[in-house]
Amino acid sequence: MKKIKVGIIGMGYIGESHIEAVRRIGLCELYAVADTNYALAKKKAEYYGIEKCYATVEELLADPDIDAVHNCTPNFLHYDINAKIIESGKHLLSEKPLCTSYAEANALCELKKRHPESAAAVNFNYRMNPMVLEMKARIAAGGLGGVFVVSGTYQQDWLLYDTDYSWRLDPKMAGPSCALADIGSHWMDTVQFVTGHTITEVMGDIRAVIPVRKKPKKQTETFSNAVPNEYEPVQVQNEDYAAVLFRTDKGASGVFHVSEVAAGHGCYLNFEINCQKGSLRWNQEENDRLWIGRRGGDNSLIIRDPNSVSPAVKPYTALAMGHPEGWNDAFKGNLYSFYKYIADGMQGPAPFSTLEQATYIVRLTEAILRSSKERQWIKI
Ligand SMILES: NC(=O)c1ccc[n+]([C@@H]2O[C@H](COP(=O)([O-])OP(=O)(O)OC[C@H]3O[C@@H](n4cnc5c(N)ncnc54)[C@H](O)[C@@H]3O)[C@@H](O)[C@H]2O)c1
Repeated sequence: MKKIKVGIIGMGYIGESHIEAVRRIGLCELYAVADTNYALAKKKAEYYGIEKCYATVEELLADPDIDAVHNCTPNFLHYDINAKIIESGKHLLSEKPLCTSYAEANALCELKKRHPESAAAVNFNYRMNPMVLEMKARIAAGGLGGVFVVSGTYQQDWLLYDTDYSWRLDPKMAGPSCALADIGSHWMDTVQFVTGHTITEVMGDIRAVIPVRKKPKKQTETFSNAVPNEYEPVQVQNEDYAAVLFRTDKGASGVFHVSEVAAGHGCYLNFEINCQKGSLRWNQEENDRLWIGRRGGDNSLIIRDPNSVSPAVKPYTALAMGHPEGWNDAFKGNLYSFYKYIADGMQGPAPFSTLEQATYIVRLTEAILRSSKERQWIKI
């Protein structure tokens, strides 16, 4: 079978994870990379032995050998670059959030309807963690009864000090939200995916815990600990913390908070789902484990084992029990789900996030921001 030739745009923090994941998927061939920082793109291309290297989106899209393109650029470029990829007729895998506004995300969905020849996905990668898939399978099987409460957090500490700065805090580059669009989007997508519920009412409370930050005069690496020598003080506009109450279309209630100023946390995405006959709890920092709670104390902790997971999970887990799979493996799983869907002829419901689903997450983000500003519940 002919391999799907892949080009990746944006060689920053997440671009590297895309390189590694694509190289592990047998259905694909990593063929080209591009970055306006051409020296960076060249360095990656040489290190990984990637055939083609470009300085612009246009050059990469003009290459007729490329079948699929990953967009790993900062948020404000997602609309424009995603539109160009869709119009080129190549498959699109965009980083999240899909766009910086609901209007733009919606426009991309409309554009995509005119290009049914290709597939499009948004990289909400936590979906394909084996134990997340196991939760989804158990809830769908019905043995736990209906979901009535969902709670959790997504906590990180990479913005804890006032010397920490990122383009994510700047509305011109990130859109009007930092923590909520950056990691809250993952939390909402993962929880909706697992439960099959849609969040339809929200009440938010957002704030910038550190209102003034020292912005480096020269560009620094995302998530870097380096303290810049030269900086200027800036009033931060986007939030580093958000708390949300919500209701779902199927009658469940929920609460979560996201923080990028929570000391000691690197990627603490966690949630607990309370159903009528039991509870399920999962935490990304110990992602091989799934806690099951039952009334009467008959609780259990399941350790991922490819031999005992539900059938739907098996394609997404490989290592034997006791050999922990991690963040990179689940990330690869999400990309694999996209390329398997293409290889199988784009039939049936997609397991990855579609443009429409990611558009709804942008809509939720906007509603939460508005709710916090107006100090009231908002129904979507
Ligand atoms: N799925 C995840 O878990 C995850 C994790 C981190 C980041 N992300 C997303 O990935 C995106 C990128 O984030 P990052 O942390 O890698 O940012 P980054 O700043 O580290 O990297 C962005 C790269 O894009 C390049 N670039 C900018 N404009 C360009 C253009 N016009 N053409 C080509 N290249 C261009 C920059 O030179 C830089 O190398 C964001 O949307 C972010 O939300 C997703």
